[in-house]
Amino acid sequence: MTAPTLDIHLSDDDLTAALRSDARLGLTANPKWLPPKWFYDARGSELFERITELPEYYPTRTERALLERVVGEIARAAQAEVLVELGAGSAAKTRLLLTALTTHAPLKTYVPQDVSAAALRAAADAVAAEFPGLAVHGVVSDFTDTLHNLPRGGRRMIAFLGGTIGNLVPDERAEFLTSIRDVLEPGEQLLLGAGLVIDPAVLVPAYDDAAGITAEFNRNVLHVLNSRLDADFAPEKFRHIAIWDSAHEWIEMRLEATEDMTVTVRALDLTVRFARGEQMRTEISAKFLIEGLSAELTIAGFGTEHVWTDPDDRFALVLARRR
Ligand code: SAH
Ligand code: AVI
Repeated sequence: MTAPTLDIHLSDDDLTAALRSDARLGLTANPKWLPPKWFYDARGSELFERITELPEYYPTRTERALLERVVGEIARAAQAEVLVELGAGSAAKTRLLLTALTTHAPLKTYVPQDVSAAALRAAADAVAAEFPGLAVHGVVSDFTDTLHNLPRGGRRMIAFLGGTIGNLVPDERAEFLTSIRDVLEPGEQLLLGAGLVIDPAVLVPAYDDAAGITAEFNRNVLHVLNSRLDADFAPEKFRHIAIWDSAHEWIEMRLEATEDMTVTVRALDLTVRFARGEQMRTEISAKFLIEGLSAELTIAGFGTEHVWTDPDDRFALVLARRR
């Protein structure tokens, strides 16, 4: 086995500087909001892994079962030499793709990318140990910032799994898809995993589980602000909320202040007041219709080659080619 390499394009100082800017913007806005990428410190990444095991959280197991069923077809249609995975996290489901791409396609290199260095290091080490013939080259960066620091060369497929595309607001999503198009050569491919619009009676509990793990994941952003920016949030005084916004077709997660509070963010020299009942948006998780997603891909410069869905039409895997 060759040890994985890791390119750090986001140092700890860069992360703190980006959080300072996001926190100042979001905490002084009306209504207040925070971007979801700040959930994922080491604790947040672990909480996300626990979410994926919850009985209510269907996306991960649905996407895994779908991948198990169609991964051979994907590999034959892909013929990739390099698999780049954005927001790879623990890369648990990716093993299915790596097995198929090394069996049915000439895959030589795996490039997992993530904002969470802790999650990425663990994933890169585990994949390198499991696939000794594969070169593993991790990249710590922000996929909404630039993708131009991803390695070039070899026929590439970019995978973006888990439905993380839904965590971007529509403008960010359009910009993000265009930036993927810009780093790919004509003919290279994108494999996109996306949650579909389904019954809110199934959707909402997936984001508001009985064991309270999603609530803890949501509140983790406050722990991150406390530790990185020397803030004094009392996370237990914020209530987790998940609602289905049928107009936008997204789940919205919020944190609601359970009492009047004054919070100090010492690193920003900022005092933030919350009124009892005030809600702060921390994440959207958009769900899609296949036609809508395909149209967004077309606008960004991709042709949709294949769409696979699970038997209950809860989740889709879309293989698209850069034109
Ligand atoms: N792909 C995995 C993990 C999904 S969780 C799966 O399907 O299970 C979302 C992942 O995206 C986390 O690992 C998180 O750290 C990462 N992430 C979120 N926002 C990001 C950003 N702006 N840039 C890079 N990674 C990001
Ligand atoms: C990473 N992402 C696709 C998850 C989702 O379903 O939107 C994050 C998450 N938020 C709450 N639960 C899981």
